[in-house]
Amino acid sequence: MRVFCSGWRRFLICLPLLFIVPHLFSVKQFQQEPTKRGLPKKSGNKFDHLVLGPAAGQGLSNRLQCEGTKALNKTQFSTNHRVNAVELVSVVTVFSVYNSSPDASRVTVGNTSYSKVERAMAILNVFVNFIQETMPQSDVIILTDPASDLYVNRRGVSVYPIQGEYSREKLMLQRIRSYIAFLEKKLKEHNQKDVHHYIFTDSDIAVVDDLGQIFHDYPDFHLALTFRNNKQQPLNSGCIAVRGTRDGITRATAFLRKVLEAYTSKYMSASRMLGDQLALAWVVASEPSFDVKRYTRSEPFMQDIGSGSVLFLPCAIYNWTPPEGAGQFHGMPLDVKVVHFKGSRKRLMLESWNFYTSTADISDMLCLVLSSGRTKFGNRLENIARVAATLMLKVLP
Ligand SMILES: *[C@@H]1O[C@H](CO)[C@@H](O)[C@H](O)[C@H]1NC(C)=O
Ligand SMILES: *[C@@H]1O[C@H](CO)[C@@H](O)[C@H](O)[C@H]1NC(C)=O
Repeated sequence: MRVFCSGWRRFLICLPLLFIVPHLFSVKQFQQEPTKRGLPKKSGNKFDHLVLGPAAGQGLSNRLQCEGTKALNKTQFSTNHRVNAVELVSVVTVFSVYNSSPDASRVTVGNTSYSKVERAMAILNVFVNFIQETMPQSDVIILTDPASDLYVNRRGVSVYPIQGEYSREKLMLQRIRSYIAFLEKKLKEHNQKDVHHYIFTDSDIAVVDDLGQIFHDYPDFHLALTFRNNKQQPLNSGCIAVRGTRDGITRATAFLRKVLEAYTSKYMSASRMLGDQLALAWVVASEPSFDVKRYTRSEPFMQDIGSGSVLFLPCAIYNWTPPEGAGQFHGMPLDVKVVHFKGSRKRLMLESWNFYTSTADISDMLCLVLSSGRTKFGNRLENIARVAATLMLKVLP
């Protein structure tokens, strides 16, 4: 160090190394440490427990205020429960198990240690738990690869095999294909007097309020999407609602076919991730009367796209994500309905459910999510490297 790091500028360049090197060793140690099922986690391992920080949005009157994990406000839950109980709502997700990859890494959450596959199944279970808690009249439909031996034996959950290519590389593309195939099937079975709405979501979300309410609150849309104020990715595909009338299903399917077409013709290079979001944004933006400025306001709006009426719902409420929650959304709105645990946040989803089962208070649980928003579990090393790289760029001439 001394030899290379003498001199003022060099010292600054090497400074990040002082932070990186010890972490490299502790991460390695962590990975080698065997975990045993049923044993309480070892405290003191900083990669193995939640680190609570300050909750974003402090002092903002329309944002959740927390004292630690105690909520000072109760989040507003829909009190006017769905008037029309005849209208069914199903939450539909695509899920596939990948058994093939060598599976050495285990993660401990609460008192349980999970392999990768077990973790994925645990997340799916928690996804269902939240829906059964907040939308007790709704069922869950899991679209999956017929070749995968997915078996879920739970009340209110059905597995629905749809042929396709569910490899990790093609999963985003397959997801849209599966949505379309599912809707086509439902349209065939549809009879005029039944209304059965569908909400397609990622399975790494916690539904914390009754989503079925949107079909009642916004009676005119065929398909609903979530948007945020982000130039590159204004639309997120993690939550797509389809009105369960013949008209709604027909027009929503036509819209999704256009998205699929844009995806395969323009965004195949992004087939592993983001391609669906880029394709969605492209289809919407190609509507001549669409004004992209609407993404900058955070209110819901309607817009005809092609032959269908599309409802745009703000991500801050319908697709809230911890990392953006700390920054972009400036805290958590009191009427948040969906928390999306993307990427390395998935573990926080399991922690949140554990917390909820011990407190039975959604608002307090949301404080846990909000104050752990900046915690990354798996990617700690990556974070440190990123910070170090940023520092170096600042220092270098
Ligand atoms: C939320 O709680 C804080 C602290 O008690 C309070 O100042 C604020 O007015 C509350 N917000 C709402 C919308 O009730
Ligand atoms: C973990 O186990 C301990 C003792 O066996 C128990 O007190 C605690 O409640 C358990 N925690 C969870 C999250 O299950």
